[in-house]
Amino acid sequence: MDVVYREYCSEDLPRIKEITVAAFDGVSIDRNTDDLLGPVARLSWQERKAGHLDTDLKRPEATILVAEVERQIVGYVSTWMDRRAGQGFIPNLAVDQACRGQGIGRGLIERALDHFRRHQMTQARIETLDQNSIGQSLYPAIGFHEVARQIHYCLNLHDGPGDSPPR
Ligand SMILES: CC(C)(COP(=O)(O)OP(=O)(O)OC[C@H]1O[C@@H](n2cnc3c(N)ncnc32)[C@H](O)[C@@H]1OP(=O)(O)O)[C@@H](O)C(=O)NCCC(=O)NCCS
Repeated sequence: MDVVYREYCSEDLPRIKEITVAAFDGVSIDRNTDDLLGPVARLSWQERKAGHLDTDLKRPEATILVAEVERQIVGYVSTWMDRRAGQGFIPNLAVDQACRGQGIGRGLIERALDHFRRHQMTQARIETLDQNSIGQSLYPAIGFHEVARQIHYCLNLHDGPGDSPPR
């Protein structure tokens, strides 16, 4: 399979968001909160998750690298840089289910790391969820070291005191 990697352009965003929503079903904090506490009034978890790409692009020196097969985008990695700290961040990464397991995810991360090196960053950061077995296997395989685990909490603001989440 011939894969072409390139920097995104704004016309690519709808396809990048489409891949995001499909890929993060089951490995998304937004999906978890809807499942546990019910939907948020204004936006579905899919809309909130897709919106993360807009947020990613507002960060300092942000970009998205995409992977294309036969001129169709099949995956992407978003990046931004904290130049003062010398750290590059990878907030989102996804590959279309139909094209997984062929090295595209690894290829995207390696290109993001090259991008950081070209910009004189000294460290790269990436996060994954405890429920994401692929992330926990792929990132150490690339050379990332686990440095911390974090717990995310969510509370419905209009529930009565002591209301427990549905089981
Ligand atoms: C993570 C993701 C981008 C990887 O894309 P990909 O193109 O399949 O990645 P690659 O083919 O380069 O590599 C996949 C690696 O995961 C491993 N892997 C695949 N399925 C796995 C599973 N169920 N459990 C553990 N490891 C798994 C493969 O062995 C491979 O490792 P290797 O390169 O050392 O052999 C893709 O699975 C995805 O989009 N997942 C949903 C969104 C997501 O989790 N994004 C990352 C958020 S932290």
